[in-house]
Amino acid sequence: METIFDKSKSGRRSTYLNEDDLTSKKPSDELDGDLLRGEKPGLPEISQPELMRHFVELSKKNYGVDDGLYPLGSCTMKHNPKPNEDLAATEEFQDHHPLASPDLVQGNLRLMYELGELLKGVSGMDGITLQPSAGAHGELTGMLMIRKYHEVRDELERRTEILLPDSSHGTNPASAAVAGFDAVEIKSNDEGTVDIEGLKEATSEKTAGIMLTVPNTLGIFEKDILEVAEIVHDAGGLCYFDGANLNAFLGRVRPGDLGMDITHFNLHKTFSTPHGGGGPGAGPVGVKEKLLPYLPIPVVEKTGDGYSFDYDRPKSIGKVNSFPGAFGVLVKAYSYILSLGDEGLKRVSDNAVLNANYLKEKLKDPYKLDYEGVCKHEFVLNGSGMGEGIKTLDIAKRLLDYGYHPPTVYFPLIVKEALMIEPTETETKENLDEFTETMLKIAAEAMEDPELLHEAPTETPVGRLDETQAARNPVLRWTESE
Ligand SMILES: Cc1ncc(COP(=O)(O)O)c(C=O)c1O
Repeated sequence: METIFDKSKSGRRSTYLNEDDLTSKKPSDELDGDLLRGEKPGLPEISQPELMRHFVELSKKNYGVDDGLYPLGSCTMKHNPKPNEDLAATEEFQDHHPLASPDLVQGNLRLMYELGELLKGVSGMDGITLQPSAGAHGELTGMLMIRKYHEVRDELERRTEILLPDSSHGTNPASAAVAGFDAVEIKSNDEGTVDIEGLKEATSEKTAGIMLTVPNTLGIFEKDILEVAEIVHDAGGLCYFDGANLNAFLGRVRPGDLGMDITHFNLHKTFSTPHGGGGPGAGPVGVKEKLLPYLPIPVVEKTGDGYSFDYDRPKSIGKVNSFPGAFGVLVKAYSYILSLGDEGLKRVSDNAVLNANYLKEKLKDPYKLDYEGVCKHEFVLNGSGMGEGIKTLDIAKRLLDYGYHPPTVYFPLIVKEALMIEPTETETKENLDEFTETMLKIAAEAMEDPELLHEAPTETPVGRLDETQAARNPVLRWTESE
């Protein structure tokens, strides 16, 4: 495919009128001569229709949730209602400076305060920070609060370990390590949940806490979570609940009622902002009362008739973001929660679980399912043994030929040739049936014509890429010599 530079022809122009054109002032008039580069910047020269066609063509090669089913496990690639986008884009919300004094932005503070209250209600926690910009950032914030909690008790020196089930999300051990803890792995049992005997053996006076991904990365709810909490608390540790996949139990179960001390939310998955895609996210963190003093500053407070930022918190871990957080994402979450109401939130998780189980039952034969039983919002198939030399990667690549974004592959590591599928709550039965048909067709092709899968994709703008090379030596910008 040609780049816009390949299409460039000397002298072609695509002009919009702007203020400088109207005043016949050139940007260079404002700059000192010694700041101007001698040579031209090497921009493509292209006419407006060619420019439009180029970018429209490019956009058609893209694939997003507005194109079709996007079963990327662990990422909750669901439809995000457009009215929430519109609301976040209104000038009342968009045009405030983040350093505006609180008395000028009372409405924004009120929204943050009320969103915090709503999130407390959803999670069963006693306090909230909206600052972190992502799920992993929320995890780090939580880990820093666990450090502070033990530091205040003079126990940090010996409490150096965070327990992590082998089914936890990849960011969990990374966050524990970045916060200065040693990650101690706990094996899963045959049912795919935390092995209680293994947990007891690993728990000691060195335990600072446990990080539980719930549902875990197999899509399974930790049925022994109350016992897990008791074991860790008895040893003096704290329980961190990775709530990034809240669509699995929203309105049905609250981490705060399960003995958990800290949880984070992925607003950019559960609450109306897309995950990934280059935009900002928000990973608020909820804590139980005993951790309230350590919340990042400032905390938004209701004071009499108004709202203010409380900085006077001497035990706080400090700031974790330069401003109060990704405000537009907070607006969308607020609007999403209020527009759905309690009953709507329950329906979110009901449909997420129903859709995942429907698809799992349709696909577990001929694909393999290592951990039987009811899943929550997602499930993990084992793609091995599907045909001569067929690997999960071949199945994923063939899905591209049928116009689908593939599921997450090779994660979690505890399933061989893993295919992690999350249909999400916003897909119709018809869409799930169509996807099933495609997956079954691919399974048949794998047996009858494995070469077809080895060569896939053949219908996409580019064929199979060298993904290792792309990850290790990314080429992120065009240069003329290439
Ligand atoms: C269970 C779990 N934890 C943590 C994260 C990390 O969130 P983020 O990508 O916002 O850092 C994710 C991401 O989807 C997740 O699924």
